[in-house]
Amino acid sequence: MLAQLTTNNTVYDADTDIWWNPDELFHMLKTCVNPARVGFFERILREQQCYVPNKTLLDVGCGGGILAEAFAGLGFSVTGIDPSAPSVATAQRHADSQGVDIRYHIGAGEQLPFADNSFDYVSCCDVLEHVQDVDAVLSEISRVLKPGGLFFYDTINRTWLSWLFLIKVAQDWPRWAFMQPNQHRYDRFITPAELIQKMAETGLANGQTRGMVGNYNILKTLYFLRQRTAGRWTYRHLGERMLMREGRDTNLCYMGWAGKDR
Ligand SMILES: C[S@@+](CC[C@H](N)C(=O)[O-])C[C@H]1O[C@@H](n2cnc3c(N)ncnc32)[C@H](O)[C@@H]1O
Repeated sequence: MLAQLTTNNTVYDADTDIWWNPDELFHMLKTCVNPARVGFFERILREQQCYVPNKTLLDVGCGGGILAEAFAGLGFSVTGIDPSAPSVATAQRHADSQGVDIRYHIGAGEQLPFADNSFDYVSCCDVLEHVQDVDAVLSEISRVLKPGGLFFYDTINRTWLSWLFLIKVAQDWPRWAFMQPNQHRYDRFITPAELIQKMAETGLANGQTRGMVGNYNILKTLYFLRQRTAGRWTYRHLGERMLMREGRDTNLCYMGWAGKDR
């Protein structure tokens, strides 16, 4: 019964590198998604005068370390945690191969194995729509964040557009599908208003919410996706073309930050 209520998280347990190989789906988090969200987070850090090297950051649901390594590149002392042991192993292997000092742990966001007020910053990106208990994850994030610390997030809105693009086109319709069935579930998507309310209940005050939008129109996107399902392109080609950027429209994906009360 539980399996029907959650997203298909077994995709993260592959025994090959599904994160850093450019021909794999999840590498698109680096090529398509990271430029938008890391650029936004970096701007917020500067605006809030919080861009101080060596501050500690916890990345919850770090997967193969694609966002964690970007934060390490900004000069932070980064810890990553994810329930998928194969993903954590990939993340550690990649960081070691790059000489990047990141500490990775196996564990779920619902029960973080860290003391209260441990981190200056916490990030949880592309994860809240996959967890069993969003309230518990947000409560744990708030608990381990230092007073005055910042929380960075991105997730998927629950709208007709996200149903059409991320459920039907991306998963259900074989002509274009580029994700596994049930990799996302519509009822797990969260509206910005719901997230802001849930964060407030844990002492996290939302600072700003911005859209993550594609730099391509729907017809071009369908053409790109068809190239892959027809065997002419791999994810590498999609990753080179389907870039996301910061924008006003939050109807599909959105990102933001929140501050923990002092
Ligand atoms: C789409 S990936 C995002 C990876 C990474 N945050 C990024 O954006 O590059 C979703 C990740 O959420 C993780 N995840 C699933 N359930 C989780 C939970 N309860 N707590 C923390 N992470 C979870 C999965 O194992 C997977 O690595």
